[in-house]
Amino acid sequence: MAYFKGTEKAHYVSRMFAEIAPKYDLLNSIMTGGLHHRWRNKVTDLVTEGLEGPSLDVASGTGDFAFALSRHANSGQVVGVDYVREMVDLAYVKSTRKKNQKSAQKLSLAVADALNLPFKSDQFSCVTIGFGLRNLGNVEHGLAELHRVIKPGGKLAVLEMTQVPGPLIWRWLFRWYFRNVTPVLGAVFAGNWKAYSYLPQSVDWFPPAEELKAMMAHAGFRQITYRYFGMRTVALHIGVA
Ligand SMILES: C[S@@+](CC[C@H](N)C(=O)[O-])C[C@H]1O[C@@H](n2cnc3c(N)ncnc32)[C@H](O)[C@@H]1O
Repeated sequence: MAYFKGTEKAHYVSRMFAEIAPKYDLLNSIMTGGLHHRWRNKVTDLVTEGLEGPSLDVASGTGDFAFALSRHANSGQVVGVDYVREMVDLAYVKSTRKKNQKSAQKLSLAVADALNLPFKSDQFSCVTIGFGLRNLGNVEHGLAELHRVIKPGGKLAVLEMTQVPGPLIWRWLFRWYFRNVTPVLGAVFAGNWKAYSYLPQSVDWFPPAEELKAMMAHAGFRQITYRYFGMRTVALHIGVA
């Protein structure tokens, strides 16, 4: 698959997520061994620390980050947005489940584009984007838009797959695994080889952690820190607006 961005990528990505939406949660749990729930709880602890007020989860998908935020005492009202209706519909169905009913009282869900968020500037105390930034048609534009909607002093958390750092053999092994095993898992469990071949490609195209830190700084964030999860396959960046 050749590198692509902009409208072409937006069309491809939205069609792909609409197709895999019903199996998205299952694959997420298989690929992370269920650990993604623990990561999300850790991220929401870190990003809401010392803050109060409304929170936003962008590219919210089936809403797992938005639910984690809603369960957090500091998060205030939570809005989850995604531009694929099929994903938002699934998040809505999850919000009606008994275990989410209490937290769902704080949560609103909407269809919206991360590159053109339907919110005034300086509105949210904290914003999360989980496994979403890599999928945007324009990452720089996405970061600028996220910065725009966060109040000065508020925080952004970006949880994203990353190019595994470390010795060449280690990087090669992970790359081999992503390129060869992930599409098989996608074919077996979601009936979609192509979508899960896009995943390793999109990680290759996405900037490594240090570069993403520089891009966040360019978008106006400061005090940016990052750490790894999942054997360094996932990076969490937090920055202050
Ligand atoms: C890998 S999923 C992540 C979902 C969820 N955040 C999570 O942590 O599981 C990526 C999501 O990004 C959404 N997305 C991609 N580009 C978007 C955009 N421009 N605006 C809003 N959502 C977008 C897709 O529809 C998809 O639901």
